Amino acid sequence: MTRTLITSALPYINGVKHLGNLVGSMLPADVYARFRRARGDETLFICATDEHGTPAELAALEAGQDVASYCREQHAIQKGLGERFGLSWDYFGRSSSPQNRELTQHLARVLWQRGHLEVRTTKQVYSHAEKRFLPDRYVIGTCPHCGYDRARGDQCENCTRVLDPTDLINPRSALSNSTEIEIRDSAHLFLKQSEFIEPLRKWIDSHEHDWPNLVLSIARKWLDEGLKDRGITRDLDWGVPVPDDIGDGKLKGKVFYVWFDAPIEYIGATKEWSDSRGKPDSEWQSWWRPASQKDVTYVQFMAKDNVPFHTVGFPVTIFGSGENWKLVDRIKGFNWLTYYGGKFSTSQKRGVFMDTALDLLPADYWRWYLMANAPESADTSFTWEHFTAVVNKDLADVLGNFVNRVTKFCIARFDGRVPGEGSYGAEETALIAELDKRIAQYGAYLEDIEFRKALAELRAIWVAGNEYLTRAAPWTHVKTDRTKAAVGVRMGLNLVHLFGHLSWPVIPVAARTIHEAIQPASEVISWPAGPMSAYLDQLDAGQVVRAPDVLFAKIADEQLAEWKTRFGGEG
Ligand code: MF3
Ligand code: ZN
Repeated sequence: MTRTLITSALPYINGVKHLGNLVGSMLPADVYARFRRARGDETLFICATDEHGTPAELAALEAGQDVASYCREQHAIQKGLGERFGLSWDYFGRSSSPQNRELTQHLARVLWQRGHLEVRTTKQVYSHAEKRFLPDRYVIGTCPHCGYDRARGDQCENCTRVLDPTDLINPRSALSNSTEIEIRDSAHLFLKQSEFIEPLRKWIDSHEHDWPNLVLSIARKWLDEGLKDRGITRDLDWGVPVPDDIGDGKLKGKVFYVWFDAPIEYIGATKEWSDSRGKPDSEWQSWWRPASQKDVTYVQFMAKDNVPFHTVGFPVTIFGSGENWKLVDRIKGFNWLTYYGGKFSTSQKRGVFMDTALDLLPADYWRWYLMANAPESADTSFTWEHFTAVVNKDLADVLGNFVNRVTKFCIARFDGRVPGEGSYGAEETALIAELDKRIAQYGAYLEDIEFRKALAELRAIWVAGNEYLTRAAPWTHVKTDRTKAAVGVRMGLNLVHLFGHLSWPVIPVAARTIHEAIQPASEVISWPAGPMSAYLDQLDAGQVVRAPDVLFAKIADEQLAEWKTRFGGEG
């Protein structure tokens, strides 16, 4: 049996994620995980919050909480929202877990012992007011090039020039505005990435045919520009501490850089998962330390800005360890979802966030819209107009209406039971042939992790059902030829059942409701097996059918107008 390990990029802890974050990693990973489970594969889907780094510290400060309580609270919030969105994680961990601390320290230790790390002295801005080192972007001052007086120490927002904090005129702390700052020497660990260019290139080339172009081109761009050695420690309080036996005693009180420990949390969260179930280490190791790389297929989902860290950064850690860790097999990268062509922004609260989205509509409306329009080959713009059009057409008019028509008519005219009379004829045979083809195609697109194409095919399958029903017109025939009407209704009910199965990876709650209109459903609603000639003739005559309440309500013009005003369209 195939074993598939699936991870989605870990969402930052600092606040509720927006729809762009959701569609760029967590949601597609979930659809794919459900698809694998529906196929009967052993599947492990892991995610976690990314909790370290300055942004987490500052968000806690702003919330007036200590950083540990802040992270605990935000983790619970993100976990709850993910579950309400139907994200079927096997485990949603925390990068601040003891498991990740131990693994991060272990990997750093082997890198140190194997000579891949080096202590170097760097110049850092120290602020007396806060009694701490400041990351470059938290030093502000006047830009020496354009005179802008709020330029950041890493870049001037006004003239876009890249800066060094020491370039700024009248530098001050962005946290306190204090000018009592000075440049101090600070020792840090550097990972000698340049030593790995050749093995990385070989490994990336070996995926020439199975990684998407977006991923290959970003990875190669990094290699072509020459890999710089990377500082992997920071002068912060919050993070995984550098252990005493690394760095010849020069790194007391420092922590690892967030991008060093975050990907390791893919492994850490898997250990959290197996520990939480009281299992021995062999459980998580069967995924991460398989006897052969071929024993597990590992698939990662992420937005394009994360690709360098997964094709270069994290692999350097793995290669450098000299240990036999599972390497990623397939990487699915996404472009940006924009909000009316502009940026979704957490700091500026621009766009739609996971909590607000669920206040407006159930998860499946968002899941369908987002996956059918996933930013796969280019950036994609979210607009309320487009969202409304897609929901009203695909979900309400096509899928919802079909289920509604068939079940209601069966209840009204066939006693709410699957009618057994008559046999399938030419219409049904043609439909079956079309569906055999389309379902194979839908499955093939999901195997290829091509969501837009897959969902277009699923939509076409729903449409084919609708068109069949319109042609079969049981409501017309029932008056004159009850057997003919019965055949149409029986096929219609079999189609409803099929749609429950096919739709489950994408819209799990609605799919269950649809399936349960016909018969009880198991937890994983399986991929339909075998030829449609049998699959679409499986319901027993006399079986009781229910009509679900409105599956998908249409979004009215007034509602659309209200949302546009409330959230700012066009903006
Ligand atoms: N938190 C990062 C982001 O949102 C992603 C971290 S992915 C991991 O961009 F690999 F580092 F875990
Ligand atoms: Zn079923």
